[in-house]
Amino acid sequence: MKFNQEQIKTLQDIIYARRDVRGNNFLSKEIPAEDIQKILLCGINAPSVGYSQPWKFVVIDDEDIKKEIRQNFDIENEKAKNIFKDKEIYKNLKLEGVKEAPINIAVLYEYPNEPTIGMTSMEKMGEYSVVCAVQNMWLMARALNIGLGWISILDEKKVLKTLNAPKNTQLIAYLALGYVDKFYKEPELKTVKWKDEKTLKECMVSNRWE
Ligand SMILES: Cc1cc2nc3c(=O)[nH]c(=O)nc-3n(C[C@H](O)[C@H](O)[C@H](O)COP(=O)(O)O)c2cc1C
Repeated sequence: MKFNQEQIKTLQDIIYARRDVRGNNFLSKEIPAEDIQKILLCGINAPSVGYSQPWKFVVIDDEDIKKEIRQNFDIENEKAKNIFKDKEIYKNLKLEGVKEAPINIAVLYEYPNEPTIGMTSMEKMGEYSVVCAVQNMWLMARALNIGLGWISILDEKKVLKTLNAPKNTQLIAYLALGYVDKFYKEPELKTVKWKDEKTLKECMVSNRWE
């Protein structure tokens, strides 16, 4: 299968227009089940070390579960506030959209119970595979004009307990999904001058460090 210039441009547009969406931008409008399925199918079509496919997706619309996760966030976020110098900016950032988003998806890593090709030297490759799934989901969500936010200010053990997750799992990502009133043009943390954008030059090394 060969792609034409227009398709290449579309992929680039989707990648550049993808944004992290927080609560203030989510609408309560329901996401059609077939769109959730499209997003999940993109997840399971991600590359994975040794084709281990070590992911589990917990699709959550239960308000009690969301409430518990939101309480988990509030506790962790309160601790985080004291860590940053720019406390005022931090306090005003909305860093989650658990309750506003109609759907939450917890993406878990399931530890392999047998040796995996590619994980014999670098044991974190399983977790990295699940991150690839998350990125695929994020891009498909954006293509469907559905906002997605990644929430990581959470006590992982408590999330796993809330979900009744099996012992051989680890939380990789807690995602909030929903339609939005708008997608920001650039990362919000850039807009509020929390961080500057790095240029490609700053991110590249030719061959090796001198
Ligand atoms: C691993 C990971 C964890 C993240 N955790 C959070 C989070 O807890 N809360 C939040 O508001 N954004 C979170 N984000 C979103 C980033 O802040 C966001 O991707 C970054 O600021 C760039 O903005 P953009 O995604 O809109 O381009 C996370 C992103 C990644 C990749």
